[in-house]
Amino acid sequence: MELNAVILAAGKGTRMCSLDINKSKVSFEILGVPLVKYVLTAVEALKCQEIITVVGFGGETTKSLVEPISKIVWQREQLGTGHAVMQAEELLKGKSGSTIILCGDTPLLRSETLLELCTKHAQNLDDLTVLTAIVENPRGYGRIVRQSNGDVLKIVEQADCDETTNAIKEVNVGVYVVNNLLLLKYLNEISTNNAQKELYLTDLIAIFKKHQLKVGASIIQNNEEMLGINNRVQLEEASKVLQHRINCRHMLSGVTFIDKSNTFVGPNVSIGQDTIVYPNTHIYGETSIGTNNVIGPDNYIVSSKIGNGNHVIKSYVISSSIGDSNQVGPFAHLRDHVEISENCRIGNFVEIKKSQLKKGAKAAHLTYIGDTTVGQSTNIGCGTITANYDGKNKFHTEIGDNVFVGSGTTIIAPVNIENDTFIAAGSTINKDVKTGEFAIARARQENKAEYAKKYLKK
Ligand code: UD1
Ligand code: CA
Repeated sequence: MELNAVILAAGKGTRMCSLDINKSKVSFEILGVPLVKYVLTAVEALKCQEIITVVGFGGETTKSLVEPISKIVWQREQLGTGHAVMQAEELLKGKSGSTIILCGDTPLLRSETLLELCTKHAQNLDDLTVLTAIVENPRGYGRIVRQSNGDVLKIVEQADCDETTNAIKEVNVGVYVVNNLLLLKYLNEISTNNAQKELYLTDLIAIFKKHQLKVGASIIQNNEEMLGINNRVQLEEASKVLQHRINCRHMLSGVTFIDKSNTFVGPNVSIGQDTIVYPNTHIYGETSIGTNNVIGPDNYIVSSKIGNGNHVIKSYVISSSIGDSNQVGPFAHLRDHVEISENCRIGNFVEIKKSQLKKGAKAAHLTYIGDTTVGQSTNIGCGTITANYDGKNKFHTEIGDNVFVGSGTTIIAPVNIENDTFIAAGSTINKDVKTGEFAIARARQENKAEYAKKYLKK
């Protein structure tokens, strides 16, 4: 069956109460990923011919989030969900098969559920199939009104409910699969004849029934999936659900989590078997972590690659890569394309930016390394800094293999310290050091006899 998808994401999200007037509701994030991306990912699994997202409020942001996977249509004024779908008419024209319509603010819908709805739609030869749920508290949702034979007759929105419809506990989840040609044929019969004077997409059900078309309904298995995000309480609730889902997926495939409710892992993170993740660790972006690592506690890792057998504790690792068998932290900060090879040791209060550390290199304490290559088995002493910035430009430092940099050294870039060299502690290095050389660059100490008492109180 040819399938197209329309994601409705033009709404304002007033109840998110944001100061940022350009922020669309669907751009709010859960575990580092915008709401609309979750929907898009679920839709992608359906192998649609075309995915169209209706954007409007904060549309530029939403557009940047969904392109190029989805096409964009604009709904300049938010006149209702029916009106939103009308904006996609041009792009849907001439397409056979069906169209799945869903909302951009329901991040918990799983692709399996959507697939099931599509399958039911096809098997039952429905012209329109709507996803419904039976809930304890139907408030706020459109009510599913069925005929005496059980067929769906219409959807009545909360604002238009009378006493009888108000009591109905079967509600509209807001996902529909509909024959595309019939959708285009009857979409324009939707009117604003309702309490909110909006063009309700939900009216399509009654319109289809009026034309003797076949309308079916599929009841969702797990109500958890239907949660739509309208405010920040629901945002946190959905976040908890996703956190549980993601962490359980990792645990069931061989990763140990010490405390899954205090560990935050984004949906696009991979973690290898026998890695142990300690609490208060956040792992976001396109991060991959290999096997047999000890990660955490207290890490913040974004868009990074970590190999196998590392210990990364209480550290920030941003857009960087860590090979195998390294020790990082506590209190290390790696950022901006750092590459740590293998058997390295990055200790406390060490910040490394845009640098490479080759096999067995060590910077164990209190160090800044920026725009630098550190060779194999080189030791960077405590308190060493590379002065890589003159206020205008950044400069490179090259440190070779098997170099010993004594503590408290300042290395003023650009400079090249060759293999097998030794830098005396406390040096300020601004000239190249050649292989085999010992470099010392500090003022000579002078000791004045009996002079101390001048300064010391009796
Ligand atoms: C809608 C349904 C309701 C259903 C509920 C499920 C209608 C009329 N009602 O109500 O039956 O139970 O979803 O969550 O469809 N949007 C636009 N343009 C608009 C209006 C909305 O793109 O002009 C988008 C919003 O961004 C949102 C989605 O459509 O992603 C749903 O809109 P919302 O206002 O939240 O609809 P509900 O009142 O929740
Ligand atoms: Ca909603």
